Amino acid sequence: MCGIVGCILNKEVAPTIIDSIKKLEYRGYDSVGIATVTDKINVKKGSGKIKEVDDEIHLEDIDGKIGIAHVRWATHGNPTKENAHPHCSCDNKISVVHNGIIENYKELRLELQQEGHTFKSETDTEIIPHLIEKYMNEGNDLLKSTQLTINRLIGSYALAVICTEEPDKIIGARKESPLIVGVSDHGNFLASDVPAILNETRNVIYLEDNEIIQLEKDNVIIMDKDLNPIEKEIVEIDWDPEMAEKGGFDHFMLKEIYEEPQVIKDTLSESSKIKEIVSKFKNFNRICFVACGTSYHASLIGEYLIETQLHIPTEVILASEFEYFQNTLDDHTLVIFITQSGETADTINALKVAKQVSETLAIVNVVGSSVTREAHHVIYTRAGPEIGVAATKTYISQLICIYLLVAHLSENEELIERLYTIPELTEESIEREEDIKIIAKKYKTAKDFFYIGSGFNYPTALEGALKLKEITYIHAEGYPAGELKHGPLALIEDGIPVVGLLPPGPSYSKTFNNLQEIRARGAHMIILGSEEDTKIDDVHDKIVFNQIVDELIAPLIYIIDLQLLSYHISVEKDIDPDKPKNLAKSVTVV
Ligand code: AGP
Ligand code: GLU
Repeated sequence: MCGIVGCILNKEVAPTIIDSIKKLEYRGYDSVGIATVTDKINVKKGSGKIKEVDDEIHLEDIDGKIGIAHVRWATHGNPTKENAHPHCSCDNKISVVHNGIIENYKELRLELQQEGHTFKSETDTEIIPHLIEKYMNEGNDLLKSTQLTINRLIGSYALAVICTEEPDKIIGARKESPLIVGVSDHGNFLASDVPAILNETRNVIYLEDNEIIQLEKDNVIIMDKDLNPIEKEIVEIDWDPEMAEKGGFDHFMLKEIYEEPQVIKDTLSESSKIKEIVSKFKNFNRICFVACGTSYHASLIGEYLIETQLHIPTEVILASEFEYFQNTLDDHTLVIFITQSGETADTINALKVAKQVSETLAIVNVVGSSVTREAHHVIYTRAGPEIGVAATKTYISQLICIYLLVAHLSENEELIERLYTIPELTEESIEREEDIKIIAKKYKTAKDFFYIGSGFNYPTALEGALKLKEITYIHAEGYPAGELKHGPLALIEDGIPVVGLLPPGPSYSKTFNNLQEIRARGAHMIILGSEEDTKIDDVHDKIVFNQIVDELIAPLIYIIDLQLLSYHISVEKDIDPDKPKNLAKSVTVV
């Protein structure tokens, strides 16, 4: 997830472009870069946040009335200056900014290298200007060359391209990454998202997948993939600027929950890389996960999956408690570190110790973060930047990586196929938001909540409870369903809300009986289960899922409804869910 901007004005473009790209910093802040076209391509870029780079190299100090810019959330190659966009062709006549992932970039890079192209970065993106250059050298114009290029790409992209040979235009294209067009009487704009252009225009055209655009100062031509012009509606936006940065959502947390189906798709595109990493593992007979908080809950699901699917002894250690367990590690243990930020001090310290004796794998969201520099192997989750303090989309991306890891370790093709059905199923969770709002209103004054689940769904109970604690300040506990009768049942009284996770599957009957025991003590039952389960018809509240969501895949879907529940209780209580008290996004102290 990066931010891109393209802009054509009848005056110097740099101040407007820099102002626009600043509005997209929520989409990435690894590096920033700008390119303009005059009689040559002019580029300024650097790694770090916009302000840091600007203070050092004065981004606005660049001539030209046509330009493109980028804020990067690195996916391929560390967040260095060399990897910062824009990227240029060998002859420096073409410059490109890109948001997305080119899955077949290795093959294309090799092909281009064999034809004599040289590369300056480690990014997947850099193949794009070189491919365009190749097609222009064959006699095609910029538009045709861009079309020929995108026909070769597998993956996702939103692109903006400028070229000295045709210095009066920007070519843009999109597939599975957002791109909008802004139109006005003083110039035209391309951007990843509306906030980037609101200071210039409120007239927006939303591009669809496989559409290509030619932007000129007084003209905007939108075309299908065969370059046939198409008519598009201009929409007038009435958001205020703060609302716009959140994509029209009231909070980043809600926006990030809505992004989850796309994040799952993006993370699934890592499948072949995960397969490659798995093939490199040395022999191991034990697995340890090490993590904190939400990442710890993702690890617990990993434990259940590995023990049931692979029958390999597995344990999960809280990173802050690692020193008490470290002496059991040996060279037949694979130690997996899960962390969205890659900067959690407890996790880094544990990794430094573990890597001395064991093979280590890190599952991380932030490219180039400290943990990625320490671990032997790294798998990236593809959640993009998460701004809300409570982890939502990064958690789901961690789970997808863990499921893919287990599926590849066990060579379970059927499980891999099932994972590709998850994005659609999670869309259904998101569509239920209005129903969940009603439940949230009903329970907003509760003092305590219990979350109950068995097997793969016990960690979901823990994560549901953690989300509630973090952003509503309501006391909440997660328990395995069978455990309440061993003590906590004493706390159940009339009206206490209990969220029961009851997907179809082998653990259904036992969990159902346990929930009955709780209900008999007067609890208000909020049950998540199958739409075909008639036994849950007379509970207080129910959230139902497609029957195919069984206990194995329920952790990937139920949690979205639970995140929405916590979010709406938080809003009902007038708490800012994006910035809960006493918490920080990245915990860099021990
Ligand atoms: C999640 O909502 C929390 N903010 C917190 O528990 C978090 O998961 C934990 O601090 C670990 O962070 P990490 O994944 O960046 O290592
Ligand atoms: N894949 C490109 C890079 O690593 C763009 C990243 C993105 O859009 O997330 O530079």
